[in-house]
Amino acid sequence: MMPSGPLPRACWTSFISLLLVCCLLPPGTQGQEFQLRVEPQNPVVPAGGSLLVNCSTDCPSAELISLETSLLKESVGSGLGWAAFQLSNVTGDIQLLCSGFCNGSQMIGFSNITVYRFPERVELAPLPLWQPVGENLTLRCMVSSGAPRDHLTVVLLREEEELGRQPAGDGEPAEVTVTVLASRDDHGASFSCRTELDLRSQGLGLFQNSSAPRKLRTFAMPTTPPRLVVPRFSEVETSWPVDCTLDGLFPASEAQVQLALGDQMLNATVVSHGDTLTATATAKAEQESTQEIVCNVTLGGESRETRENVKAYSFQGPNLTLREPNATEGTTVTVTCAAGPRVRVTLDGVPAAAPGQPAHLQLNATAKDDRRTFFCNATLEVHGVILHRNRSVQLRVLCAQTAPRLTELNVPSA
Ligand SMILES: *[C@@H]1O[C@H](CO)[C@@H](O)[C@H](O)[C@H]1NC(C)=O
Ligand SMILES: *[C@@H]1O[C@H](CO)[C@@H](O)[C@H](O)[C@H]1NC(C)=O
Ligand SMILES: *[C@@H]1O[C@H](CO)[C@@H](O)[C@H](O)[C@H]1NC(C)=O
Ligand SMILES: *[C@@H]1O[C@H](CO)[C@@H](O)[C@H](O)[C@H]1NC(C)=O
Ligand SMILES: *[C@@H]1O[C@H](CO)[C@@H](O)[C@H](O)[C@H]1NC(C)=O
Ligand SMILES: *[C@@H]1O[C@H](CO)[C@@H](O)[C@H](O)[C@H]1NC(C)=O
Ligand SMILES: *[C@@H]1O[C@H](CO)[C@@H](O)[C@H](O)[C@H]1NC(C)=O
Ligand SMILES: *[C@@H]1O[C@H](CO)[C@@H](O)[C@H](O)[C@H]1NC(C)=O
Ligand SMILES: *[C@@H]1O[C@H](CO)[C@@H](O)[C@H](O)[C@H]1NC(C)=O
Ligand SMILES: *[C@@H]1O[C@H](CO)[C@@H](O)[C@H](O)[C@H]1NC(C)=O
Ligand SMILES: *[C@@H]1O[C@H](CO)[C@@H](O)[C@H](O)[C@H]1NC(C)=O
Ligand SMILES: *[C@@H]1O[C@H](CO)[C@@H](O)[C@H](O)[C@H]1NC(C)=O
Repeated sequence: MMPSGPLPRACWTSFISLLLVCCLLPPGTQGQEFQLRVEPQNPVVPAGGSLLVNCSTDCPSAELISLETSLLKESVGSGLGWAAFQLSNVTGDIQLLCSGFCNGSQMIGFSNITVYRFPERVELAPLPLWQPVGENLTLRCMVSSGAPRDHLTVVLLREEEELGRQPAGDGEPAEVTVTVLASRDDHGASFSCRTELDLRSQGLGLFQNSSAPRKLRTFAMPTTPPRLVVPRFSEVETSWPVDCTLDGLFPASEAQVQLALGDQMLNATVVSHGDTLTATATAKAEQESTQEIVCNVTLGGESRETRENVKAYSFQGPNLTLREPNATEGTTVTVTCAAGPRVRVTLDGVPAAAPGQPAHLQLNATAKDDRRTFFCNATLEVHGVILHRNRSVQLRVLCAQTAPRLTELNVPSA
């Protein structure tokens, strides 16, 4: 409280006399019965503000009433038993001391100035990009400046609802936290914090400052991978459906789904219904190979993925043909069944020499061969699974004078 700059003479005088009196006069002498009042008593003033201080006493012979302070002061008048001063630029808490003399003995009086200032910054720390439902979320509010701290409270809010309130404490910046369990209802909710400078007991009121609100996004993601439904086998150049479903997603509509065949993205149609997300697409393989289908669901920065293999095969044929289109009684009929590579054909129970080879049958047409049906059974082994495909053809044998007729029938594959 010692003034730093040179002091007006009066100040020094009173200061020195104060010291002298303090040291020389024993306590309890005359004059002590008179009080030196400092008004206002313990005022609360806005930071940087000014204040009129009145040092007064009832002592009839009061003299040398002065105000000790390091603050900028200006005398604004004095009279019998009083002296008033204007203090300006009050920036911090300070104790004022008035001193004076009554009949040769010293009187002193005190008043504590408390400065108040609104917080310069009230800020809610950034929220996580996505908050998992069912996990604790810590909301942190930072408050810079603001005084007096013992009258400053920080309130954390979810919309208008108070989640907690704590005194700001002495830290600079002050930091206050509250932990809440994130729920689905918190998705899209605004969180904020507010300071309350409560100077109502000082007759000044309740001053609030609020942070900018921050929106929270919560999510729930099951630990299970998506259910991916694809055929185990597919024929090349033939489209087949891809269906990927994941349950227990929140908010399902904000999840991202990727369906890919190998490294080629599929054009997926995504539908969400409640907590269920379904992505569908069609895919086809261009060549014989094992293709990987990937379904990847991403929400809240987390992904769940399922991969399935689809074995693409090529099953050509079988082509079942009669070499002679018209058979008359007694002529030789050649039946051929041919299919693609690795396909094993069996013509009327007689297998071909090797897979990929055609099977032939020759016969002399007789009247009882009319309407005879020839069967060709083709099989292809794809990764241990045997695929079947059958064809049949019917022979018409007519008398020499009648025109013959052939009918080919396609029997659906097994
Ligand atoms: C200071 O206080 C005295 C005594 O109460 C009063 O007479 C005087 O008017 C006051 N001065 C000012 C400037 O308020
Ligand atoms: C008020 O006081 C502060 C420090 O206490 C000082 O930096 C500022 O310049 C002063 N302002 C005036 C107007 O005197
Ligand atoms: C002042 O002091 C003198 C002697 O020390 C005493 O006689 C007188 O009564 C005192 N006056 C007051 C107002 O206390
Ligand atoms: C001023 O504050 C000091 C320290 O907090 C305290 O001891 C003193 O009693 C206060 N003075 C008044 C007049 O309230
Ligand atoms: C959340 O925090 C509270 C205490 O603040 C604790 O009791 C609870 O177990 C925590 N819950 C989870 C899911 O971490
Ligand atoms: C804080 O609130 C007070 C009134 O309560 C207002 O005057 C002041 O401008 C606010 N400060 C900020 C930084 O918003
Ligand atoms: C994806 O499918 C939608 C409709 O199902 C269609 O309109 C769009 O053109 C397709 N995009 C591509 C790149 O195939
Ligand atoms: C799933 O997709 C997301 C977004 O495209 C990507 O970041 C993530 O790496 C993928 N996950 C896996 C396991 O490939
Ligand atoms: C086979 O029969 C068709 C009619 O079914 C006829 O047009 C054709 O000329 C015949 N061919 C031979 C080689 O007899
Ligand atoms: C089957 O017949 C079609 C049409 O005549 C032909 O393109 C194909 O190559 C034949 N397939 C085999 C395995 O002979
Ligand atoms: C068809 O008849 C001819 C002569 O009649 C005979 O040589 C041939 O072996 C017969 N073919 C069959 C497959 O029966
Ligand atoms: C061959 O195909 C026919 C139908 O075309 C079917 O009835 C028969 O059972 C098949 N035989 C074998 C051995 O698969």
